[in-house]
Amino acid sequence: MSKALRYLSKTRPQAASNLMGFYKHSVVALDEKTRFLIQIVTKITVGTERGLRQYAPKALKAGATKEEILDAAMMAFPAAGLNKLLDAIDILNDLDLLPEVEGEESSKEANKNLGALELFPEGRMQSVKRPDGDLLVYRTGPNQVVVYDARCPHSKASLCDGTDHGDRVECRVHNWIFDLESGKCLEPRVDGKEQDLIKIPATIVDGHVVLQ
Ligand code: FES
Repeated sequence: MSKALRYLSKTRPQAASNLMGFYKHSVVALDEKTRFLIQIVTKITVGTERGLRQYAPKALKAGATKEEILDAAMMAFPAAGLNKLLDAIDILNDLDLLPEVEGEESSKEANKNLGALELFPEGRMQSVKRPDGDLLVYRTGPNQVVVYDARCPHSKASLCDGTDHGDRVECRVHNWIFDLESGKCLEPRVDGKEQDLIKIPATIVDGHVVLQ
């Protein structure tokens, strides 16, 4: 359940329960995989990145193939338009939910390597500019890093240009502030709203920071 629904279930329990009941009981004939594929279409159409990141992996888990996920994305095109479709392709590629392009595997693997650990001094934010989306890397210990999508959750300004406060980064556009260790938005804090940085899974392999 999202934070927003949790909030509503406490402040407007009847409305939230009716809403959840509607979701639960309104679709009876479609199987789980089909429902999640349709969710992909709707999330792309309305342009919600979080929703797409939430539901697309569920489609794969429910048995959809990567080809079917690509088909679902393409079905959004007439309503979503080209820009939303291309954004969605980037996100789905990032989640590794689209079919591989022949001959691109090795460059894709190379692209996952963000560089040697020494490039990322402890307690300092580092930007990594990449063609498929900029990242923020923050080293939290000798063998620990956290990696974030560099786009500000507010209006997608690049936090690579943000003000570095050491353990926090401040977006220069509307001054939202994020804790770099947890990714939490510190200011402003609006209950029930998704405001935190998006974490990108990464690990240390042979002294290099590598995306998973
Ligand atoms: S875009 Fe970053 S605070 Fe508005």
